[in-house]
Amino acid sequence: MTHRAAVSTAAAVETRALEKEFGPRVAVHSLDLTINRGEVFGLLGPNGSGKTTTIRMLCGLMAPTGGSASVVGYDVASQSERVRERIGYMSQRYGLYDDLTVAENLRFYATVYGLHGRARTERLAEHASQLGLTERWNQLAGTLSGGWKQRLALACATAHTPEMLFLDEPTAGVDPAARREFWRSIYVLAGRGTTILVTTHYMDEAERCQRLAFLSRGKLIGIGTTAEITAQFGQPTIEDVFIELQRRDEGAIAGTIAGAAT
Ligand SMILES: Nc1ncnc2c1ncn2[C@@H]1O[C@H](COP(=O)(O)OP(=O)(O)O)[C@@H](O)[C@H]1O
Ligand SMILES: [Mg+2]
Repeated sequence: MTHRAAVSTAAAVETRALEKEFGPRVAVHSLDLTINRGEVFGLLGPNGSGKTTTIRMLCGLMAPTGGSASVVGYDVASQSERVRERIGYMSQRYGLYDDLTVAENLRFYATVYGLHGRARTERLAEHASQLGLTERWNQLAGTLSGGWKQRLALACATAHTPEMLFLDEPTAGVDPAARREFWRSIYVLAGRGTTILVTTHYMDEAERCQRLAFLSRGKLIGIGTTAEITAQFGQPTIEDVFIELQRRDEGAIAGTIAGAAT
């Protein structure tokens, strides 16, 4: 039996020794991660810890250099097209068209994901109303505030009703009211059974996730609920865990530079 055949399809995400090297740099190091279907899962870690690289591999957008991963039951390397049809991805830069209206952006993404005709019209009308976008239907995306752009980007990433959604720092630079509204939308999607993987630097958002994983320099160093992780690190809050990790990472980088200089 091959290693790949052993990957379970019950989980939304299952990685085995997943690895990404960029030349000599290991961005993701032997990652074993399981995310259950329907879970709201947070991926945390300082800048450069490998969050975006992990997401790109799981979305079938970047080939792993080692190990394997399945997403909603499909292998990300050999069945990346199947994976891409079933997932939504909101990247750190949203990829909206500023010179198109809200409606035109939604139609564009729905078409990319294979929706057409009456099914598309009906789906988008329902979707826009659920995510509160109907009142901005004919406004140019470029003239929307940060919070509205983010809401539109979420709608575009979910127009095709994906089984799983990847959100990479979706709320960076968005005001608190819009962040709260955004999380309301996330729970609407989760309530419909969508699995969600989200990265964030906001610790109040981390605490809204059912489980969390911490990455540090490409390695998974903790996984569990907020209570499990704070206990594991002996810190009072998730924010303290994060600060401690960042301190360790900066110490390690300073050590590397000092070592290289000698
Ligand atoms: N395309 C790339 N080429 C070379 N190095 C990269 C590339 N993408 C990411 N990296 C490196 O991989 C590491 C992890 O980056 P990334 O996954 O973006 O981290 P995060 O999203 O946690 O900030 C960093 O050291 C980064 O510089
Ligand atoms: Mg990133």
